[in-house]
Amino acid sequence: MRPANARIVVASNRGPVSFERDRAGLRAQRGAGGLVTALTGAMHRTGGLWVAAAMTEGDREVARRDGGRIDLEGEGAVTHLRFLEFPPEVFDRYYNGVANGILWFVHHYLWDTVRSPAFDDSTEAAWQDYVRVNRAFAEALADEGERSPTEPLYLVQDYHLSLVPRFLRDLRPGALIAHFSHTPMAGPTYLRILPIRMREAILRGLLGADVLGFHSPAWAENFLMSCRGVSGARVDLQRSRVTIEGREVLVKVHPISIDADAIRRTGASPEVQELRRQLARWRGDAKLLLRVDRLELTKNIVRGFRAFEIFLEQRPEWRGRVRFLALLSPSRQDLPEYRAYAEECVAEAERVNRAWGDADWTPIEVRLRDDYAGAVAAYGLYDALLVNPVFDGMNLVAMEGPVANRRHGVLVLSRNAGAFGRLGRYALGLNPFDVRETAERIAEALTLPEHERRRRARGLSRLVLANPPERWVGGQLEDLERARRRRRA
Ligand code: G6P
Repeated sequence: MRPANARIVVASNRGPVSFERDRAGLRAQRGAGGLVTALTGAMHRTGGLWVAAAMTEGDREVARRDGGRIDLEGEGAVTHLRFLEFPPEVFDRYYNGVANGILWFVHHYLWDTVRSPAFDDSTEAAWQDYVRVNRAFAEALADEGERSPTEPLYLVQDYHLSLVPRFLRDLRPGALIAHFSHTPMAGPTYLRILPIRMREAILRGLLGADVLGFHSPAWAENFLMSCRGVSGARVDLQRSRVTIEGREVLVKVHPISIDADAIRRTGASPEVQELRRQLARWRGDAKLLLRVDRLELTKNIVRGFRAFEIFLEQRPEWRGRVRFLALLSPSRQDLPEYRAYAEECVAEAERVNRAWGDADWTPIEVRLRDDYAGAVAAYGLYDALLVNPVFDGMNLVAMEGPVANRRHGVLVLSRNAGAFGRLGRYALGLNPFDVRETAERIAEALTLPEHERRRRARGLSRLVLANPPERWVGGQLEDLERARRRRRA
């Protein structure tokens, strides 16, 4: 087992908290979600530190003090955080230019390849800054290793930091490094869209780790298949590992989950209870179809509205008897594709409302804001929850909904979400590109008999509760301990 003194050093682009300055001074806002809970929980047990990029003005202020280090107290323990600050234009090219503008697109199959992408000099400039930021992260991690009395366990997160394992390995050949991808991983053919140098660097960058984690077997397999094209790498599909430069890299599946207790506590708070009452009044006697998403290209919001329209077309008896509430929190508005998609989503909902609504009934209600309490309130009330991403690494809404819902609501879930692998047997599955099938699933969800709704709702809660976030991080730490033992042997 893991020695108690093996410190954990986490690296991610977005930190567990971010700082905003208001009249009272710098205010820390803690990120919600299983990842932050799992990683801070593990860090509290072992000691350790979280390295992240300064993203807000407040973060940058913190980054300029005490070498970017800050100790945060909360929940009976201290979280040690270190912010790395980059010149704004460098951060922009790394984050918007490469991480969100290219890697997010490739891993989620988002390009309309007749016209885009077209890589040019600006891509190359952005790539240089992606390399620079990844190198700075690796240097900070190596520096933390130097300060540590024992070799730490490094947990590097996501596509922003794909090159960190390689750079860190060069700096500390004996380091114990896990990298986790929270996105899908593009298959080998689609990955060939990337400029060859970028594709090679990313695969070799990841292969600097001892263990690579994914949420779903499909993404792990895509990665292994892509590694077959890396010269000097030997891929063992059966045993799910790659040998390169005399080292073995394990490819593992560790599905993350949510902090169910925290959601239930939020659901029971007076604020959420009041929001739930307001929502229940708004819904009236109608059934509630809900979606909760970041306003994000991968979430397939426009096709979801179109599918709802087909459902209304085909089932006239439902007109006036169901309301579709879409809670969408704006995201990545620096990218033109996201701004355009936000407009498209709103326009599509308005079109459906004009076509089918009347003075007493508006079929779709879109609420555009970041409102976690509002989302938890709505989770309590839905009859059906639509989660139809084109591709999704995992999708936590599909888990949050069932543990907060109080009406045996039915989950309608894309087969291309990592969550489908875990929850699919109790959900109604759909192909996110097939609006006809999506419309059928919506109808089915709203008409399932009560005993069937109950069976599925209980099954979903049980599956989510059986996989607490500690298990996700625990599995990775065990993998690293195994790597340590193998190295000694
Ligand atoms: C996904 C990614 C995360 C990212 C999050 C929000 O879940 O896997 O790494 O933090 O989206 O995106 P943002 O760009 O706002 O950090």
